This record gives sequence, structure tokens and C-alpha cells, in this order.
Amino acid sequence: MDRIKVTEVFEGISMPGKMHTQESLHAATNFQFQDTDVLLVTFPKSGTTWMQQILSLIFNKEDFQKVQGIPTWSRVPWLEHTYLLDCLAQMDASKPRLLTTHFPAKLLIHNLKNSKARVVYMARNPKDVLVSYYHFHKLAKFLPDVGSFEDFFDQFLEGKVNFGSWFNHIKDWLGVQQELNFFLITYEDLSQDPRQAIQNLSNFLGQPLEPKELENILHYCSFSFMSKNDQLNYSLTSPEVFDHSIGKFMRKGVTGNWKEYFSPEQNAKFNNVYQAEMGDLTIKLPWSLD
Ligand code: A3P
Repeated sequence: MDRIKVTEVFEGISMPGKMHTQESLHAATNFQFQDTDVLLVTFPKSGTTWMQQILSLIFNKEDFQKVQGIPTWSRVPWLEHTYLLDCLAQMDASKPRLLTTHFPAKLLIHNLKNSKARVVYMARNPKDVLVSYYHFHKLAKFLPDVGSFEDFFDQFLEGKVNFGSWFNHIKDWLGVQQELNFFLITYEDLSQDPRQAIQNLSNFLGQPLEPKELENILHYCSFSFMSKNDQLNYSLTSPEVFDHSIGKFMRKGVTGNWKEYFSPEQNAKFNNVYQAEMGDLTIKLPWSLD
């Protein structure tokens, strides 16, 4: 089946076409945040779907079943997607709006800093992001033909993939965190100690959890539960969008998978770029590059 060969370029950032249009991208930059909004920010393949599930569980803890029949992309829709308004119209007006974005900070900071909206930045070891993104390109028909792993590796390091440079994305968002109601969480935190990570997150969200509620959330956000659930694993997505014969959206769900893909030379090259780009960052990120 053919690839959907439409790319939108907006403010120098490439994004898949159709789900993004110039109109939807402009609308996202003008989005009026409410103080009760929760905005999940990720670079692609950082565990967005996982965090969408966790956020909607935290805000629906009185009835987990209610949200299970609704796909995560509709419960926590992307600001920049064409279907945002339809999703907003279906949201329960008595609850905070849960939103997602892959946008860089510069496109949203102006409107965000005028509100008390909570921003949850979910980050992941960029080596694992790269491998996950590579596989996702094979599966997702709305992304360009991926070519070899070697080619993709270089494109990623040069920031020539959709949504641009991973390094700029995280540095720019961390750079504006003092201006925002901001919480950093990582894929690695969630993998290593999900109980503690979710508790910290729910405290930030002003949604303390009873022990039983926390247990339920841990169950419903586990890889084993999510990968079997059709509303969460994207298996119902049309074959024109995802080529299900090639692989699964819920691929591995682990940390450190990059070790099976990077050659020693690629690893050294990546570490050099990482050091040059991230060396000045004072914040300690929990992943290992070894
Ligand atoms: P892998 O390709 O490494 O398996 P995103 O939602 O941002 O596109 O990220 C997708 C990645 O998150 C995939 O990584 C996917 O398997 C992983 N993921 C999704 N749900 C998860 C969960 N409950 N636990 C661990 N990893 C999860």
C-alpha cells in the first residue's frame, strides 16, 4: 500500500500531512489554554500513548471502565491535529481538558505562560526514541520511507526527521520550565518505579490517589494490559494509516533496546553529539548512555 506522501512544514518543522494542515497548525499556536488544562508534551516515540493513558486514568479514577472504550488519541487529543475540535466537543465539561502536543516550546509558550495550565513533559532516552521512531516509520504510512537504519540514524542526529531535533525539543522546553506550571517525567522513571513516578505525577496534578486507585492505574497502564487492548494499541487504525503486517505500535516497551541496534561507531558518534548538545544541561536525566 502506498505511503501518504504529504508533509506539512510549519515554522521550519516538518510534520505528517492530512492529520496536520496549515489551518490546524495555526489554530494550535493560537489555542487559548484554561487554568485547569493539562498539556502533555512529548517528542514522538517518548511514551506519549502510555502517558495519555495514565493521565486519563488519574482524572477518571472513580470509573476506569468509562474511559476504556475511548481511544487514547481521542481522550487526550493532540492540539495540532485536525480533529481537535471534534474531540474537545465530546469531552466531559466538568473535568480538566487533557491535551497532547509534539510542538516545540517556541510555538506554544506565548499562550501557555498566560495560563496556569499544567504542563507534563515526558522524555525518554533519545537512543531508544531513535530505535522506536525507526520502527514506527516502517509501520506508519504517513511518515516518509525510512530507508536503512544507518540513514535514519544520521537523519535523527541531524534533526531532519518529523518534528525536528530531539535535542532542541527537550532543551527548549526545559529552558522555559520556570515560566510554566511544569513537571518533568521520564519513560525511565516510569519503567523503573512506576508506583513512585505516578504518585509524584498525581501530586503535581492535585489528584492524590488512594492505594487501591494507584493499584488499578498500575494495572491499566502496564505494557501487558495496554498492548492487548484495541483502544490503546492502535490495532483498529486503518491499514492505510498503519501497515499492521509490518509490526505493532506497542513494539517492545522496554528501556535500553538501542543496544541491539547501535554499532560501536554509531554509539560513539551519538555520545559525541549528545555531549555537545546536552553537556551544559544542569538537570540530571535518568537514562544511561552506556
Ligand atoms: P517501543 O517502540 O520502544 O516499544 P509514543 O506513544 O510516543 O509513540 O511511544 C511509543 C513507545 O512507547 C513504543 O516504544 C511503545 O511500545 C511504548 N509504550 C507504549 N505503552 C507503553 C507501556 N504501557 N509501557 C511501556 N512502554 C510503552
